[in-house]
Amino acid sequence: MTPAYRLADCHLHFEGSLPVETLEVLGRRAGHRFADRTAFEDARSAVRDAKTFLSLYADVCPLFESPADYGEAASAIARSLASDGLTYAEIYVSPEIAARLGLDASACLREIDRGFREAEAEGAIHCNILLDAVRQWGPESAERVLDVHEKTGLASVVGFGLGGDETSVPTAAFAGVYARARALGLRTSVHAGEWGGTESLTEALDLLRPDRVDHGIAAASDPELMERLADEATTLWISPTSNVATGVVGSIEEHPLPRLLDAGVRVAIGADDPLFFATTTAREHQLLRDQLGFGERTMRQLAENSWRAAFLSSSERDRRLAEIAGHHPPRGRTQPSVSS
Ligand code: HPA
Ligand code: ZN
Repeated sequence: MTPAYRLADCHLHFEGSLPVETLEVLGRRAGHRFADRTAFEDARSAVRDAKTFLSLYADVCPLFESPADYGEAASAIARSLASDGLTYAEIYVSPEIAARLGLDASACLREIDRGFREAEAEGAIHCNILLDAVRQWGPESAERVLDVHEKTGLASVVGFGLGGDETSVPTAAFAGVYARARALGLRTSVHAGEWGGTESLTEALDLLRPDRVDHGIAAASDPELMERLADEATTLWISPTSNVATGVVGSIEEHPLPRLLDAGVRVAIGADDPLFFATTTAREHQLLRDQLGFGERTMRQLAENSWRAAFLSSSERDRRLAEIAGHHPPRGRTQPSVSS
């Protein structure tokens, strides 16, 4: 599937972006039940909420037994994102997952960086890394993620974020971690307003001051919060299929995306975990055309927003925006709503 515009996806997670063939190879090597595709597909179809999703995520993590496994997977991910027609990606990597598996987290991160570069040299897309802390593991674990960054100093690490169970450790506990991440020169994002409500999102904005937010769809129930996001030009990196799969939205047709866009909130679209949600970035964009009736103007805006909110240099961002400005898709209807 080739998207109409060049796209960046900066809301992807490493384990959740594994091609299913790589899952099988790693599964056979590790003697893991997901060597059998049917076993994996059965587990995937049992996801219905945050708890079952996080449990599946945890089940996949032990497939990695060495830094080299991470490097091999990184190359496979960069190649599969390229074949989906993506142009650029920022991918969450959780060094604390590797550490909990008894592996050297710095060595695993260096291998991921090497795997991405190797695949790019062979024609895959450019992938940068977002370091991810797992909320339920607390602020000490998040500090260790930044320790790994200080130790490795990889240029491909462009940002820091917080994922995992939004309803676990309170946001205030991470304020110091975010300040340190910024002092280290990292841009920041945070998973908020996904499984938590508007208070959780407001706290994340107030206490962590992120450059962008992953999901953030809870804002759609609060006109003042939408106005704030629009005024502050904070991008919500939204993943519609993920939101349906984890039960926070009933169906794609009921997704609050049109409400957020109509309120002037800046939105970009990401696949989140293509492996777990059986989707891709291009497919997420196509769903919006097919099932929400989004027109050309909105699709172009979503593509532009993906470049505006990516943690790239301003010259690279402007180059990509100019490319889209010079791209003339077939003329569509001209209405001032998302269908235009
Ligand atoms: N939310 C929280 N944790 C996650 C996600 C997500 O979307 N994807 C992978 N881990
Ligand atoms: Zn996510």
